[in-house]
Amino acid sequence: MAELSDALVFFGATGDLAYKQIFPALQALTRRGALDVPVIGVAKAGWTLDNLKERARDSLREHGGLDEAAFQRLISHLAYVDGDYRDPATFEHLREALGSAQHPLHYFAIPPSMFETVAHGLAGIGATAAARVVVEKPFGRNLASAQELNRALRKVFPERAIFRIDHYLGKEPVENLLFFRFANAFLEPIWNRSAVNSIQITMAESFGVQGRGAYYDEAGAIRDVVQNHLLQVMALITMEPPFAADPDAVRDQKSLALKALRPLMPRDVVRGQFRGYRREPGVAPESSVETFAAMRVHVENWRWAGVPIFVRAGKCLPLTTTEVYVQLKHPPRYVFDDDPTPEPTRANYFRFRLSPDVFISVGAWAKKPGEDMVGEPVELIARHHSPEEMMPYERLLGDAMEGDQRLFAREDAIEAAWRVVDPILDQATPVYPYDPDTWGPPEAERVRPPEGWQNPTPSGITP
Ligand code: BG6
Repeated sequence: MAELSDALVFFGATGDLAYKQIFPALQALTRRGALDVPVIGVAKAGWTLDNLKERARDSLREHGGLDEAAFQRLISHLAYVDGDYRDPATFEHLREALGSAQHPLHYFAIPPSMFETVAHGLAGIGATAAARVVVEKPFGRNLASAQELNRALRKVFPERAIFRIDHYLGKEPVENLLFFRFANAFLEPIWNRSAVNSIQITMAESFGVQGRGAYYDEAGAIRDVVQNHLLQVMALITMEPPFAADPDAVRDQKSLALKALRPLMPRDVVRGQFRGYRREPGVAPESSVETFAAMRVHVENWRWAGVPIFVRAGKCLPLTTTEVYVQLKHPPRYVFDDDPTPEPTRANYFRFRLSPDVFISVGAWAKKPGEDMVGEPVELIARHHSPEEMMPYERLLGDAMEGDQRLFAREDAIEAAWRVVDPILDQATPVYPYDPDTWGPPEAERVRPPEGWQNPTPSGITP
């Protein structure tokens, strides 16, 4: 059993991520008794500990609710160090705040450009040897910078101590993709090129960049959600069975699944930008950054050869939802003569709705009651959503404190994912405008799946 971290240090304590995600996760961990160690916020804001406590209280009121008892316990452990990350004095103060802690968990909720500086500062006070480090996305801007970042971190921390967060991996329904695939026997015989026609992964968001224009305009949809969240989901859908549930057995297979993806070519990608994006604060008036991307991905292995995978992500689309749609092949013959369309549409499918509601369904055809042998589509749905579910950050921070790397992205997987998107980053393809509240630019039809884009509906099932 790995050693439990005996302190949690979070850099970027006054920032947006701490406000939206980290304080709610810390309160939730405290509530269930999983966090009973010093929690030290570090930032350069000219703040005091009281300012940080106030900030924590505001954060909880706005994000998930204040639980006064848990909050009081949390802030009784809270300390704050204010200072520049380049100044050794900041780290001296941190050393004092750490007291007798021997195995701290350092959480870098800071821009990647600061990772190396902070890692060196920590090494300078001897706070890296038996420590762990959690780093936030974006992990690099492309393959070369991700490799550089990995090199910089590896100078100070061994791989087993590095926890690269992708909060999608902390989502219950995303974990369930792995479970559902490999805890059941019925799926495996058809989960390959013999039975599957194509796969679509859609991450739609009905909102824009929500005050994050400056960050988003440096990133764009491909860096923001495709390289990480959606390729991780794709790996879970396409990977081979791990021989066991241990962290490296799973991560080995995920990494191989990503390595099997052919690097994208400009012809496989359509980028879009919603009308009005350039007027967002922090966004360049001539910005060509994409807020929408649709692409066709090819998997180069025996299981999936010839089965295209379509990925779509966008802001200001008609609704907020993420789903995976796996279309099976059509029946070889139509026995009943009721199919009204010239192109047969009667393929079965699996739908994995990952958010906001959660279910897995199978699309099938059943006979309409009556004298005629006429069919109608039905969707067999298994819903499983528990209000008690842990938030991704709560789960991931708890796992990192315990040294469990299963839900964290490994160096080779991150680099494999960058290798896939590297050729289509930035201005490699044109960006087409689209109206908010639509499914992206009409040009997205250029990378249309054989059965057409399956636009998710609010209820989740096919209308
Ligand atoms: C983040 C992206 O990683 O994921 C955001 O930066 C996106 O742009 C968010 O909105 C979506 O996550 P969730 O958990 O709200 O679906």
